[in-house]
Amino acid sequence: MKVLVLGGAGYIGSVCTEYLLEAGHSVAVVDNLSRGHRDSIPANAIFFQGDIGDDSFMHQVFDSFRADAVMHFCALSLVGESVVNPALYYQNNVAAGISLLQSMLAHDVRKIIFSSTAAVYGEPSQIPIVEEAPKIPVNPYGKSKLMFEEILADMAAAHGLRAVSLRYFNAAGATTQHGEDHCPETHLIPLVLDAALGRREYVLVFGTDYPTPDGSCIRDFIHVADLARAHLLALDLLEKVNGAEAFNLGNGQGFSVLQIIEAAREVTGRSIPVKISHRRPGDPAVLVASARKAQSVLGWQPEFTDIREIIASAWRWKLQHPNGYAN
Ligand SMILES: NC(=O)c1ccc[n+]([C@@H]2O[C@H](COP(=O)([O-])OP(=O)(O)OC[C@H]3O[C@@H](n4cnc5c(N)ncnc54)[C@H](O)[C@@H]3O)[C@@H](O)[C@H]2O)c1
Repeated sequence: MKVLVLGGAGYIGSVCTEYLLEAGHSVAVVDNLSRGHRDSIPANAIFFQGDIGDDSFMHQVFDSFRADAVMHFCALSLVGESVVNPALYYQNNVAAGISLLQSMLAHDVRKIIFSSTAAVYGEPSQIPIVEEAPKIPVNPYGKSKLMFEEILADMAAAHGLRAVSLRYFNAAGATTQHGEDHCPETHLIPLVLDAALGRREYVLVFGTDYPTPDGSCIRDFIHVADLARAHLLALDLLEKVNGAEAFNLGNGQGFSVLQIIEAAREVTGRSIPVKISHRRPGDPAVLVASARKAQSVLGWQPEFTDIREIIASAWRWKLQHPNGYAN
């Protein structure tokens, strides 16, 4: 299949590109490199540098690469930034996405897999979170993702688009070729590993007074390679189903922030200093996915269920790329 990977220079997109190529698909990547890295794009993928909201650029892309399906990873995804600059988020994550969908339809490309997020649920009323749970996102980032999911459903009904939204929980880990390198980095595991490397003085823990066993927040960490495998299965599903579908992708197990830090001390054998800070507004105490729908409909099962294995893969990548892709 010919797959156009939008945002393929980013963390999850680069791993999915790697898996698509390994599975024998032909891949082209589109990325404006606003947050991604040219060096993360495999040499055997075609690369178009530009913005998915730029109509004339995207028409050229669809003209020269006759895609059968699109995987859409492009987004701005910093919650704090979305609160201080919501228009930027709605422009990039919603408006540019609408232009993309129009370009797709103009070129008769009707299959799309969209990177959604646990943030669409906001503060959950029940754990584990099922797909039907109320969706009340608490920040513009989560709202932008929910809006785009709803747009996909409307476009599916109106234009026969086939869409799968994959709601990732906390992506983590690395393959031998690709790892996590965000700037600024806000994700827990790379921050913890930077502290283990001595590149960061300490790890800030936001709140130890939550109603959890050790008082710190609990999150669901899912290996990026497991996410990539789910995308391959979603591609198969798009061959069979009409309309728009959404799936949670998580491990179904929660780990607290303090447990992650302890596991990282074990994996790295290094000391990881911690500083306790206040809770951040809008941080739910516990976010854990029910991935039963992905298991039963996609036939997907996470392979990395041991958090130490996930951290170990990220650590191996970090040791080889202490400066990320800047090496
Ligand atoms: N990392 C996680 O834990 C996580 C969790 C839930 C959801 N997600 C979602 O998954 C997707 C991928 O996440 P990631 O961590 O790989 O992010 P990332 O920032 O590493 O990758 C996103 C890529 O998209 C590119 N991009 C952004 N807007 C663009 C545009 N308008 N046109 C062209 N390129 C554009 C960026 O340059 C970047 O390379 C995002 O949509 C994110 O919201 C990520």
